Amino acid sequence: MAVSRALTVPAYAKLNLGLEVLRQREDGYHELRTLFQTIDLHDDVLLLPRPEGIEVRCDHPLVPTGPENLAYRAARDLARFGRVEKGALVILTKRIPVGGGLGGGSSDAAAVLRGLDHFWRLGLGPAGLYPLARRLGADVPFFLTGGTALGLARGDEIYPLRRQVRAYVVVVDPGQPVSTAAVFRRVAGCLTPRENSNTIFRFVSRDLEGESYSILVNELEQAALEEAPKLAGQVGRIRGILVREGALMASLSGSGSSFFGLFAEAARARRALAALETAGFTAFRARTLSLEQYRRLWSRSLSRSRVGRTR
Ligand code: C5P
Repeated sequence: MAVSRALTVPAYAKLNLGLEVLRQREDGYHELRTLFQTIDLHDDVLLLPRPEGIEVRCDHPLVPTGPENLAYRAARDLARFGRVEKGALVILTKRIPVGGGLGGGSSDAAAVLRGLDHFWRLGLGPAGLYPLARRLGADVPFFLTGGTALGLARGDEIYPLRRQVRAYVVVVDPGQPVSTAAVFRRVAGCLTPRENSNTIFRFVSRDLEGESYSILVNELEQAALEEAPKLAGQVGRIRGILVREGALMASLSGSGSSFFGLFAEAARARRALAALETAGFTAFRARTLSLEQYRRLWSRSLSRSRVGRTR
């Protein structure tokens, strides 16, 4: 048993409050306009020193631990970029549903980048880590800043908004992982290319007025429901319950399969959760995290870098 430093960092989930797909790009990706929002549901990423090499451990049956895992690639890429000779052991405790459109894998990767940047004293910070994050995946850069932000290009050009959304959230996890690549492949087949977004910019220009949430849409929904027939059979009931209980908006997140409702009041969110559970759905409550809250939670976790006993 050796005494060693260890660092636990939270990796928060995101919702897409709206998502528009404009056209296919020359790099094969899709040009997006999306409104990202972090929520307080999180995985835990425990970082421990190793003399050399990267090792990832995770007890979730659907999460690989080799180079297919984004968290593994984040650690490996950062070590190469920073010419770090030491290694790291990364232990993931999953709470964010896997394949749920909530950005769990991308957030774990961003947490590894930020945590190891601190651990290895590289001093890159979010701006210095951005190019590495972008290479890992389209959703990873958002998690370097969090809060309410506009995502343009592949979803990887991030513009934090001045007014941050503050709301209560109910997320339904249908327990049916969906492949993002497969959903985008379906969308590509029936896309009418266009130059700009219809709803997201309108929403942002209205400066997040409560009543304008209903104009937001997720243009991946139809393709996601074709990919996930079980969800397709449930979506009417889920949306119906969320709307009946007073949701400001009810939508699929990302490419699914999670579905969420946004509420102005905690009591309404509680009632919606109870109604969903009574109807047999697995669901949970969360709150939005603003840019400032996200930043504060991050710096608190980094300053808590502790001394612990590890095998
Ligand atoms: O970037 P990431 O690996 O998370 O994306 C997963 C897949 O989703 C990509 O391989 C691509 O097929 C699709 N995608 C896309 N356009 C985007 C983001 C993702 O086509 N803007």
